Amino acid sequence: MFDIITFGSATLDVFLKSKDFLVRKEKKFVTGKGICFPFASKVDIKDVFFSTGGGGTNAAATFSNQGFKVAYCGKIGKDIFGEKILKDLKKFKIDTRFVLETGEKPTNCSIIFSFGKDRTVFVYRGASEILKKKEIPWKEFKANWFYLAPLSGKLANLFAPLVNFAKENKIKIACNPGNSQINLGKNFLKPILSKIDILILNQEEASLLTQIPYQREREVFKKLDEMIPGIAVMTKGRGGVVVSDGEYIFEAGILPSKTIEKTGAGDAFSSGFVVGFIKKGDIPYAIQLGTANATSCVQEVGAKAGLLKKGQPWPKVKVVKTKLK
Ligand SMILES: Nc1ncnc2c1ncn2[C@@H]1O[C@H](COP(=O)(O)OP(=O)(O)OP(=O)(O)O)[C@@H](O)[C@H]1O
Ligand SMILES: [Mg+2]
Repeated sequence: MFDIITFGSATLDVFLKSKDFLVRKEKKFVTGKGICFPFASKVDIKDVFFSTGGGGTNAAATFSNQGFKVAYCGKIGKDIFGEKILKDLKKFKIDTRFVLETGEKPTNCSIIFSFGKDRTVFVYRGASEILKKKEIPWKEFKANWFYLAPLSGKLANLFAPLVNFAKENKIKIACNPGNSQINLGKNFLKPILSKIDILILNQEEASLLTQIPYQREREVFKKLDEMIPGIAVMTKGRGGVVVSDGEYIFEAGILPSKTIEKTGAGDAFSSGFVVGFIKKGDIPYAIQLGTANATSCVQEVGAKAGLLKKGQPWPKVKVVKTKLK
């Protein structure tokens, strides 16, 4: 019996830093800025760092670090990146019996260009995306919880089967859906969301799901509370987090820290929150553990290196509780 089984992507992340990257304002890009480097030339890279990533394995690392019996279920390629992921999962004491290997597509890979506190990520969605319903060892899933990290691209097709299986087998569900899942549409999502115990979104995802600008926070939560019977969480990057259990709103900022590299902050928060909630059934404690885990994560390069370990002391952020009318 596992405490928790995680789903989502497994990637090899490559972090690159260079003095020769320039950030330029450019209206053509969604963020209003782009990065430039010399054409037909070589660019010196000052620092390079390799690490495994992907929401499914990042969350599993937090669960294992916090003493949970955890398995990751996902697909990797039969290649050196896949080998590295398997090795890392074992290093983190994450059970790999539900990891499938494929020769059809290479392992997922992200190239992360860092500029100060921010970064641009090139994402290759390969093996993780082609995990199919019929390949999943459903009968072997014995767990108290499922954790669904973003199921990107075609992997979103597994959203409904995973949630339905969990519900039928009395497995609780924590879910941090990505854009591909949210884009499945309101009518499709309604019955799925009604079965979720903890739903975690960032601001953009919350707006996409509710169709309400995230600045109108109370309206967003009113809608989320209608959609899910359990706990709704909206993370706001450096703005902290807001949580609703349908009766109360809980709010917190962030802890003071020196951000080195923010990849994995979202996964660290979500998985830390879930650990806190499973351990104590207390939302303020869950917010505090999630926030501390994310803070610790951003102080190291890579999504897993900075995650808190069991027994390691951690600072607690202040949480404000208000009754919903
Ligand atoms: N730079 C930071 N310093 C400290 N804490 C941070 C920072 N960025 C994020 N956090 C913490 O992590 C939580 C989640 O961050 P965010 O809202 O950026 O998630 P996200 O958009 O899902 O991130 P990701 O891009 O990793 O998926 C925040 O609520 C905050 O507590
Ligand atoms: Mg996220």
